[in-house]
This record gives sequence, C-alpha cells and structure tokens, in this order.
Amino acid sequence: MLQYKKQGVEVEIITPVRVEQLPATFVSGLMLLCYFRATESKDVIIFSGTMGDYVQLRREYMLKSLRKTDVLPNPFEQFDIWFKEAVNAKLPDPNAITLATSTFEGRPSARVVLMKHYDSDGIAFFTNYESRKARNLLQNPYAAMVFFWPELERQVRIEGKVSRVSEQQSDRYFQTRPEGSKIGAWASPQSSVIPNRRYLEQLHADFMEEFQGTTIKRPPNWGGYILQPALFEFWQGRENRLHDRIQYSLVNEKWLIERLAP
Ligand SMILES: Cc1cc2nc3c(=O)[nH]c(=O)nc-3n(C[C@H](O)[C@H](O)[C@H](O)COP(=O)(O)O)c2cc1C
Repeated sequence: MLQYKKQGVEVEIITPVRVEQLPATFVSGLMLLCYFRATESKDVIIFSGTMGDYVQLRREYMLKSLRKTDVLPNPFEQFDIWFKEAVNAKLPDPNAITLATSTFEGRPSARVVLMKHYDSDGIAFFTNYESRKARNLLQNPYAAMVFFWPELERQVRIEGKVSRVSEQQSDRYFQTRPEGSKIGAWASPQSSVIPNRRYLEQLHADFMEEFQGTTIKRPPNWGGYILQPALFEFWQGRENRLHDRIQYSLVNEKWLIERLAP
C-alpha cells in the first residue's frame, strides 16, 4: 500500500502491486500527484485496502453487435424488441430497473424498482409516495433508469421527467397485487427508520386484521410514476471494450439517432 499524509489529510492508494516493486521515481511521482490532488481540492479519497482487488474480474462481450442501421427509428419500438428478447431469454427480473433520482442540491441516490408497464408515454413503476425516491422526485422530477441484462450483454439507459400516473391507473395496478403485497404497502412506512423487524411484522398483522373480509383498497400514499423519456441509449457489449452504443435524443420533438464512443 502507498500512503501519504499531509497536515492531517491522509491519502491512501491501493495498487495491484506492492509499492516496493515499483520504481522509486514512479512512487515519488505518484505521491506528488496525491499531494496536489489533496491540496487543490478538499476531496480526499481513502481506500481502506482491506477488501481486496478485483482487477481480474472481467469478461469479454462477444455475443452480438448493434449498428445504427440495425435499430428502429422509434426508441420505444427498439426498447420493445430488446425487452421482449430479455423476457424470452428467461432472464431473472428482466424488468428490474436501477432508478436514479436526486435531491434539489443534486445529491443522487439509486435503487432497484420493477417496471410494471411501458408504452409510448413512458416507463412506469410503483412505489410509496412518501419514500426517499418520492421525496427526491418532488425536489427534482428528472430521473435516470438503467436496465442491465448481463446474459444478453446489454444495457439500456433511459432519462426523462417523472410524473405520477393517474389515481385510476394506480388503483388498477394495486388490485392486481397479491393480498400479502397489498397489506405490505399499507404496513411499510417505506424509507423511514423503524425500531426492529417485529415492529414491521406487527404492523402487517394489524392491517391483516383490519382488512379481514374486505376489499383492500390502495393506500393513498402509494401509487405509480411514469418516466417520460427524452433520451434512450442501447448498449451492446463488444470485444476489447469497443462496445456499441446507440443513443436516441429528443431534438425538436424528433428522435436523433447517434453512435457514442464506448
Ligand atoms: C429486485 C427488486 C425489485 C424492487 N422493486 C421495487 C418496486 O417496484 N417498488 C419499490 O418501491 N421498491 C422496490 N424495491 C425496493 C427498492 O430498491 C428500495 O429499497 C425501496 O423502494 C426504497 O427506496 P428509497 O428509500 O430510495 O425510496 C425493489 C428492490 C429490488 C432488489
């Protein structure tokens, strides 16, 4: 490990080789670089060095290719093809999306949600309207989504503005959920700190009792969001990290299709 300390600021760099194995000039150059990085900006990156390196954890992507001439002019139709291929390939959770939101100040956070519907209006998911993601969306309605289908060596990135779906659409989806999940939506104060697991299970049991023999209606603080895309990117892994990236961006209400460098 290479370590450098200056005025109480500590910078550690994890290298895949031992420092003793590096030429002295390289080490001093690296330390100088650390010094400038640490003094120029107030940011200090500390790698603890206790978790190990994974430099060999990589694979080549060789399955398919993607050219501008291969894709459809409409990104929703292209998404439809890729999504159906992911479903037909029987991938686990093909509808799992990493959804990134951010606060008013631009602090991002990301989590996985399940896509429950898509069409030319956008990509829909359901959640708690008082959750952290919902609070983020109130502060900044723009969000980003990523689908990753490793078995197909594909990624789809989608960005756009998020709004709530109608109450009727939320009701309709809620009624398709199994009873346990319906109760779960009532029982979970999503994203809030709770004292322990028992507390949650007790809330679930209490709601089970309350709703016994009745139709379980949708909680008012639970429902759908739809992201209306302004950008799509279709990524197909290729050999030597020369991946194919085809981007669609909305320019004057028309989809502009461009190839991006990997
Ligand atoms: C595979 C998978 C699917 C998930 N689907 C949803 C979902 O559809 N809606 C949801 O609110 N949370 C879902 N979650 C849980 C979220 O990742 C997250 O923990 C939760 O929404 C709270 O996030 P927040 O505190 O950032 O709002 C899912 C998690 C996983 C791993």
